[in-house]
Amino acid sequence: MSGQFSGILKGGLPQTDKFLYMESYGCQMNFSDSEIVASVMADLGYGVTDELARADVVMINTCSIRENAEQKVRARLQHFRSMKRHKPSMIIGVLGCMAERLKSKLLEQEQLVDLVVGPDAYKDLPGLLEQVQGGQQAVNVLLSREETYAEIAPVRLGSNGVTAFVTIMRGCDNMCSFCVVPFTRGRERSRDPHSIYKECQELWSQGYKEVTLLGQNVDSYRWQVPKASAGKDAGLTYWFADLLAYIASISPDLRVRFSTSHPKDITDEVLHTMARHNNLCKNIHLPVQSGSSKVLARMNRTYDRPWYLQRVEAIRRILPDCAITTDIIVGFCGETEEDHRETLSLMEMVRFDSAYMFAYSERPGTLAARKYPDDVSEEIKKRRLAEVMALQDQHSSERNQEEEGQAHQVLIEGKSRRSDQDWCGRNSRNKMVVFPGHANASKDELIAGIKMLPGTYVDVVVHCSTKATLLGQVSKFEEVHI
Ligand code: 5AD
Ligand code: SF4
Repeated sequence: MSGQFSGILKGGLPQTDKFLYMESYGCQMNFSDSEIVASVMADLGYGVTDELARADVVMINTCSIRENAEQKVRARLQHFRSMKRHKPSMIIGVLGCMAERLKSKLLEQEQLVDLVVGPDAYKDLPGLLEQVQGGQQAVNVLLSREETYAEIAPVRLGSNGVTAFVTIMRGCDNMCSFCVVPFTRGRERSRDPHSIYKECQELWSQGYKEVTLLGQNVDSYRWQVPKASAGKDAGLTYWFADLLAYIASISPDLRVRFSTSHPKDITDEVLHTMARHNNLCKNIHLPVQSGSSKVLARMNRTYDRPWYLQRVEAIRRILPDCAITTDIIVGFCGETEEDHRETLSLMEMVRFDSAYMFAYSERPGTLAARKYPDDVSEEIKKRRLAEVMALQDQHSSERNQEEEGQAHQVLIEGKSRRSDQDWCGRNSRNKMVVFPGHANASKDELIAGIKMLPGTYVDVVVHCSTKATLLGQVSKFEEVHI
């Protein structure tokens, strides 16, 4: 998974006198999990608040992917603990990957929290909370081979009412040598496609217009319908391409995105399915990690540079308009200057639309931590990261310039962050587009412009861009269909 976020999660729950305050860190999957937790807590009568001082229970959904992610969480926990001194009844819980990695150490050595719950144990929260309320500490970090929370209806937190995340699988079986995720999130398992469909259809009927299907490695999605099942698909296997087509069929006006793809598993079938459906958005997040085959082998990514480039070629051939984004790690164990230059040269060849870039951070217990010394100095990591980032900035700007002069179908998400005179939304390629709203519109445009609300599609002609944003003007004010 990619894209590291953090945020306080606000919810809109019915009247209640018990409050949950939640912060989430890390990947989109964590934000999606927090919505499952909010649902379990709602059943216990807790409403979500964004005011820490009002909270009866404080939960922090954590990330272990790099050391600095854990440091951020520790600082927050210290803060919560100092608040607890004034309000001893307040319960502090750690959820997610750090809970799984550190287990009861968080209770014993560090005494920072009352409750530790791993990613597969959220259904156990009622019992665990009861234990804490009875004066004990509580921990459940059992990983499961089956848990997908398929039947839990998430409480949408911090929602714009237009876009939502839907988890389609959990865990990861890949064992990339740098990565802690297989240890914190356990074995890979897929969720029943019918429950995914139902969740997406409900979102659609509530007015949502875009779903992002989440998994650590969506291309290995696989669900076998039991032979004895009553449905007409009894005995069939759903692969990722089948799931995409199934979800896309909910409505041609429901956009479908997904993340994350794996270069070793992404099939032409997926690409052809994307080509067949306009509402399958044309953006693929395909982490490369390194441009050097030698480094990729040490990372245990199970593909090499030519394989990755051949997958990019397939995307360009089958989906000429598709954006490609990536993740890159610099300074992995044994990375030489030549390996680093290979990463830069691969970037030049692909010219990614955008990228998340990281310096390697050794994680305890991973294959790399056990097998290879973390032998690239911090100084070199920093310099290589700066080089990779500078090159990516250039490519992001150039890729965005290529979008200028074209009309884009944009799904309005809300007011732009910079100005409430402007709207913002994304095009199919997941690029943020900002354009003037009512304040700058002519009278005729204003009359038509009442339709410009979050959740409507508009055509925007892009006239300029930065490395992060496209700027444009609405060319068609009526609601358009994709
Ligand atoms: N150090 C640095 N970056 C990492 N990632 C995963 N593990 C590490 C690590 N130990 C990056 C990868 C992955 C993204 C989610 O985080 O690029 O794709
Ligand atoms: Fe980590 Fe690799 Fe799995 Fe991604 S595919 S979660 S990087 S082990």
